[in-house]
Amino acid sequence: MAKSVKSFVCQSCGAAAPRWAGKCESCGEWNTIVEEAPREVLPKGVSGGKGGRKIEFVALKGQTAPPPRRTTNIGELDRVCGGGLVAGSAILVGGDPGIGKSTLLLQATAQLAANATCVYITGEESIDQVRLRAARLGMATAAVQLAAATNVRDIVASLEAGRPPDVVVIDSIQTMYSDAADSAPGTVTQVRTCAHELIRAAKKRGFTLFLVGHVTKEGTLAGPRVLEHMVDTVLYFEGDRGHQFRILRAVKNRFGPTDEIGVFEMTDAGLNQVLNPSALFLAERRGNVSGSCVFAGIEGTRPVLVEIQALVAPSSLGTPRRAVVGWDLGRLNMIMAVLDARAGLAFGGHDIYLNVAGGLRIQEPAADLAVAAALVSAATGEPVPADAVVFGEIGLSGEVRAVTQRDLRLKEAAKLGFRQAWVPRSAAKASQKKDPSTKDSSTKDLVLKEMGHVQDVVSRFSGAGNFQASTSRGGGH
Ligand code: TYD
Ligand code: MG
Repeated sequence: MAKSVKSFVCQSCGAAAPRWAGKCESCGEWNTIVEEAPREVLPKGVSGGKGGRKIEFVALKGQTAPPPRRTTNIGELDRVCGGGLVAGSAILVGGDPGIGKSTLLLQATAQLAANATCVYITGEESIDQVRLRAARLGMATAAVQLAAATNVRDIVASLEAGRPPDVVVIDSIQTMYSDAADSAPGTVTQVRTCAHELIRAAKKRGFTLFLVGHVTKEGTLAGPRVLEHMVDTVLYFEGDRGHQFRILRAVKNRFGPTDEIGVFEMTDAGLNQVLNPSALFLAERRGNVSGSCVFAGIEGTRPVLVEIQALVAPSSLGTPRRAVVGWDLGRLNMIMAVLDARAGLAFGGHDIYLNVAGGLRIQEPAADLAVAAALVSAATGEPVPADAVVFGEIGLSGEVRAVTQRDLRLKEAAKLGFRQAWVPRSAAKASQKKDPSTKDSSTKDLVLKEMGHVQDVVSRFSGAGNFQASTSRGGGH
């Protein structure tokens, strides 16, 4: 005989618990465990119900046209989405409050409205507030359909009546409310239920759905895992509110590459695209300063040059301070350990600060060599040549390893007027061997300085010997 069991499920990570608890044992979230509808459990050996229907299998090989794309006229947004918006897809735009999500989506819908039906539903602001913002952006006359609503049942009913719209913006998913779930707006259950109903409507009616999601204090979207699984594309809008740069980053995309970035600048007339981010990130650089080094990085498909700054100062603390903005602390510790063990530069008695200028967050290990150069430069007080770019990965034995997209990095550096590049040795050799005659004309003025080991970087600073002597074990303090 079938018996029913109660089940308790964490709404954040999906782990099942035998009984209710205030905190989920599996993900550590509070107040996320709720009782789910009892399900029928059949005794062993009894198969449930009648046989299922047979499904059709098809060959993997087949003709499927790539999905048509609708471009927004905001090139940076289109690229991050993989070349435009796909009909019937759901895009989650996450970011800190006040970073510019509403501004970006209002600008995008205003552009799209010229030849598509766009609906902008706000649960956070009043109609008047949105109108004022549109006026400020110079878009008051755009044919965007506006509504202030929070009840998802009403919203879905309106979207399903009549001709379907092409693009729908929900600002924000945390303010939406569905009576199918009985918790308060903003809770994981509500967010999940509302998103589910809206996404289902988007698939059924074939419109592109933008969901705005706020980031919690811990830096994740509320109900993060659930939402990220449900949508097709996840974009994070990030940046430093002290700077005017904003970076839109794709972290998941079923219709395009991830790790692609779009760069914007917040002005008093809204967000402007930044078509040449390297020039922007290097705009405030002052040449011939110690501790500064230009890294030739790749963000998505695009080369981006950024300045890495380091400060090394004698520490009065028992445990010296290590502070990193825009890079990984673990990776910094590794580079310092390699410099210590393989090149004799001990930073043990020093506070270290590392900063990626402009508010960009670098994730590539290719920045290792630039970080090492910035550190050695800061320690010795000797600047890295102002016309040099640096890239390369560092291994634990101190070797400098080749990185991908070398030519793209070099081309961008040449374009911005750099004259030398500190590059991994193996890569430079391999490519010269391949075709020594046809060196790309765009990078012919660039002198390559090959590095095989971190020692090669250290020996470019004549003061490194003094720093080594002052910090060597047994010497100093
Ligand atoms: P907003 O789009 O409301 O952020 P979010 O929806 O992510 O919470 O952006 C608000 C911020 O942007 C606010 O601090 C003011 C600033 N801003 C400008 O600097 N210029 C502008 O033209 C607009 C519309 C906003
Ligand atoms: Mg907003």
